[in-house]
Amino acid sequence: MALKHQKVVLVGDGAVGSSYAFAMMQQGIGEEFVIVDIIKKRTQGDALDLEDAQVFTHPKNIYSGDYSDCKDADMVVITAGAPQKPGESRLDLVGKNLKILSSIVPPVVKSGFKGIFVVAANPVDILTYGTQKLSGFPKNKVVGSGTSLDTTRFQVEVGKKLGINPQDVNAYIMGEHGDSEFADIDEASVGNRPLLDVAKEKGLSKDDLLKIEDDTRKKAYNIINLKGATFYGVATALMRISRAILRDENSVLPVGAYMNGEYGLHDLYIGTPAVVNASGLAKVEEVPLSDDEQKKMQASAKTLKETINKGME
Ligand code: LAC
Repeated sequence: MALKHQKVVLVGDGAVGSSYAFAMMQQGIGEEFVIVDIIKKRTQGDALDLEDAQVFTHPKNIYSGDYSDCKDADMVVITAGAPQKPGESRLDLVGKNLKILSSIVPPVVKSGFKGIFVVAANPVDILTYGTQKLSGFPKNKVVGSGTSLDTTRFQVEVGKKLGINPQDVNAYIMGEHGDSEFADIDEASVGNRPLLDVAKEKGLSKDDLLKIEDDTRKKAYNIINLKGATFYGVATALMRISRAILRDENSVLPVGAYMNGEYGLHDLYIGTPAVVNASGLAKVEEVPLSDDEQKKMQASAKTLKETINKGME
């Protein structure tokens, strides 16, 4: 069966957006790709630059467009927003980026868009929530990048310490994509064995794993201090989420998912493993958290709720 023609609209052609566009080109995901940004010239230049890559990757109709192109799109990916400055937290961006978001979502909805929103601008859990509220879309049709990037950071570090391919470190970073995120160390595994057992064999204690969790929380700040911004990691995480949606994969990914009682939480988006497919968020795969980790989840949710209330004032 021929693959359905897939159309993606990217809103925000900054470092994250253009890296995402490049990742989608490299992976051959989506046959039509529209780039929208307030700086029109940049989107025209990026489209012309990226189209040259298709000869060595996959044919793709990529062009500079506007909100009217969202009408028949399968997915709208929002990366537009101010990035963190050195020392700035993601939550510090809430006011200015909610303002930018409120200039984006209404014209997308007005176009007649009926697809899936994917949100990556920070603070991403709040902006995912804001996108759902501003669009009035069903909760499952709005997906946040959540803790997908943080999870890869944790997998990479644990993989290095254990000498294991990070893809085989079955662990998630959960909660806020931010300073209150945490790892589900007690439930994590390597192959079919508990991570704690495999780590112990390699001389790594639970405290060592908790140190990796803390380093994961701080990694973005470190990268920003070194190179001014982060973009390749989050762009690749966005590509992975996009693939699960456009190819209807039913993949379990740690995305920003709407809480409907899971973990005892309601009415917010937060990072948790969830089944992602063409319908967007198909199902939250609730992790049976230990007491400690449940407390971290509650604390993270509280931080998000407080910021939502402040940001929405
Ligand atoms: C980071 C940004 C995407 O964690 O929040 O790199």
